[in-house]
Amino acid sequence: MRKKIVAGNWKMNMELAEGVALATGLNKHFLAEPLKNKEVIICTPFIHLGIVSSLLDAPGLTAGAQNCNDHKSGAYTGEISAAMIRSTGARAVIIGHSERRTYYGEDDTLLAAKTAEALRNGLMVIFCCGEVLSEREGGIHFDVVQRQLERGLFFLPEDEFMKCVIAYEPVWAIGTGVTASPAQAQEMHHFIRGLVSKKYGMAVAEETTILYGGSCKASNAAELFANGDVDGGLIGGASLVKEEFCNIVNAL
Ligand code: PGA
Repeated sequence: MRKKIVAGNWKMNMELAEGVALATGLNKHFLAEPLKNKEVIICTPFIHLGIVSSLLDAPGLTAGAQNCNDHKSGAYTGEISAAMIRSTGARAVIIGHSERRTYYGEDDTLLAAKTAEALRNGLMVIFCCGEVLSEREGGIHFDVVQRQLERGLFFLPEDEFMKCVIAYEPVWAIGTGVTASPAQAQEMHHFIRGLVSKKYGMAVAEETTILYGGSCKASNAAELFANGDVDGGLIGGASLVKEEFCNIVNAL
């Protein structure tokens, strides 16, 4: 049985006290209403990570980062290593988010190096892929996603690949309020599972968790998660409000 996951991506939001309050509230909620057969990961800014990781003790609820550096350590001013992230108690890291690809010029080669470094340090990788609007309109969205996965992820041996989760996030749906339709999400997730199957075999593909991200909220989560190949969500804006985020987790 593959894992069902809802991951929150706080992005560059919330000062320390606000983030701690939200994490404390979520922890309380999931102690009172235990997560059964699913995991919740809150991916905070680095500033919050140490304190949030140490305050979470609800079973199935863990913290993650939104990025890591590709080097082990050294003179990289302003950067954060995968080992540092792991040392906070965080369990996961998002790699290849479209905002990192677009605003910080992160390419497939760099993302492959970050993925390898994260895995070397025992972090679960949430690897993002997805096309921009012009690529979908041009009918090349499958090619784009295939290339991103082949270059960023499929260099891994099977046992390492199995520590990764894939997040399909159509860029035109991120933060826009426009969600992919359940049919569009299922179509791409099914395609992605097929790619994994071709590369690693059917058994691995069946075990691979594929999340949907892009304007997923409590009001549309259930119809997205109802699809056979959608195993949860990567949630941006809607992860900043406790009730909204908990309702998304309930929808899974
Ligand atoms: P959104 O962001 O839910 O605010 O659209 C999702 C993401 O970028 O991970």
